[in-house]
Amino acid sequence: AKLALVGIFFLWPLNRRFSDGCSLVLKPSRVVVGFGEPVSVSCEATRPVRVLGWESAINAAHTQQDLSVQWKVDSLIDWIEEPICYGVFFTAPRQCEEKLNLVLYKTPDSVSIRPVNHTGPMVEGKEYQLLCEVQNIAPVQYLTLRWYREHTEVYNHSFSDLISSSPVQVSSILIITPTKAENGAQYKCVAELELGPEGPQPPPTVTSEPLNASVYFPPTFLTPEPEILELTVGAEITLNCTATGNPTPIYSWESSHPMKERIEDEPIIISSSLLPGTYTCTASNTLEKKSKQFIVKAKTKGRKKL
Ligand SMILES: *[C@@H]1O[C@H](CO)[C@@H](O)[C@H](O)[C@H]1NC(C)=O
Ligand SMILES: *[C@@H]1O[C@H](CO)[C@@H](O)[C@H](O)[C@H]1NC(C)=O
Ligand SMILES: *[C@@H]1O[C@H](CO)[C@@H](O)[C@H](O)[C@H]1NC(C)=O
Ligand SMILES: *[C@@H]1O[C@H](CO)[C@@H](O)[C@H](O)[C@H]1NC(C)=O
Repeated sequence: AKLALVGIFFLWPLNRRFSDGCSLVLKPSRVVVGFGEPVSVSCEATRPVRVLGWESAINAAHTQQDLSVQWKVDSLIDWIEEPICYGVFFTAPRQCEEKLNLVLYKTPDSVSIRPVNHTGPMVEGKEYQLLCEVQNIAPVQYLTLRWYREHTEVYNHSFSDLISSSPVQVSSILIITPTKAENGAQYKCVAELELGPEGPQPPPTVTSEPLNASVYFPPTFLTPEPEILELTVGAEITLNCTATGNPTPIYSWESSHPMKERIEDEPIIISSSLLPGTYTCTASNTLEKKSKQFIVKAKTKGRKKL
C-alpha cells in the first residue's frame, strides 16, 4: 500500500485538477511576506485524506497521517512560484489542489528624482521633465508612484499592468511648467506598495530626496502703471520701484532733467530735494528689463486753495 501511495504521489502533477469542492483549506489563504521574513501556512483537509502535501520550490512537505500539513520558511528570500497544497483522497473527487496566494515583497533599494536633460534653474512658463527612478522593487504590480509638490500630490503612476514577482527597476516622468509661485518648492517622489489587507498597514513607502525647484522669472512690479506724486516743499517723497524677480533684479534710474543729486541704484528713493519731472526706474535680471515711471509734479496753486 505504501508503494502505491508513492506512485500516486509522483504521478500527481500529470493529473492534477483544481476544484471548488476541494476539501482543502489554506490558513491563511493569502500571505504577504517581506523579503527575508518568516512565513508559515497550514493546509487542512476537511475529509479523510491519503496524502496531503505542499508542492513548492523550497520546503516542500507531505504527510500520510495528518489532516494538516505546514509550509514553513524561516526567511523567505527566493522569488519562487506560489506553493500548491495537494490532497489525495479515499473517495471522489480523489485529487485536488489549492494554490497559495503568496506575495513576497521588497521595498525599493532607492527612489531618486532628477530633471531630464536639464541642470540649473528652470524658467517660468517653460516645460520640463522630472524623472523618478525606483530600484529593485517587488512585486511591481502593487506599486504606486506618487509625485508631490510640497504637500500636494500632483500625479500618481500605477504599475498594475506590469506583472513580475521578482524585483525590477521602474521609472515615472512628471511634466511640469513651473510658475514663479513654485520658486523654492520641493518636489518629491514616493514609492508606495499597496499590498492589500494582509499586507503591512500603512503600506510601506520609500521617499526620494526632495528636489528644490529654482524658478527664474522676469522682474514684476506690483503696480506697473506710472505713479503720479505731488511735491510738497520740504517734505520727503518716496519713489518705490521694488520688483520681484529671480534672479533678484538690479535697479537703475533716469530722469528727464539733470539731477541735483546722484540717484542710487536702489529700488527706493526717499528724498526731499527732487525736482518735478519724470523719473524712470528700470529693474533688470538675466531674463528681462522692465521699466516703471514716476511723474513728480509741483503742488498746484489751485490744489492749495482746497
Ligand atoms: C535627452 O537628451 C538626449 C541626448 O541629447 C536625447 O537622446 C534624449 O531623447 C533626451 N531626452 C528627453 C526626454 O528629452
Ligand atoms: C491617482 O490620481 C487620481 C487623480 O489624478 C486620483 O483620482 C486617484 O485616486 C489617484 N490614485 C491613487 C491610487 O491614489
Ligand atoms: C532645499 O530646500 C530646503 C529648505 O527649503 C533646504 O533645507 C535644503 O538644503 C535645500 N536643498 C538643496 C539641495 O538645495
Ligand atoms: C515698496 O513696495 C513694495 C511692493 O512693491 C512693498 O512691499 C514695500 O513695503 C514698499 N516699500 C516702501 C518703503 O514703501
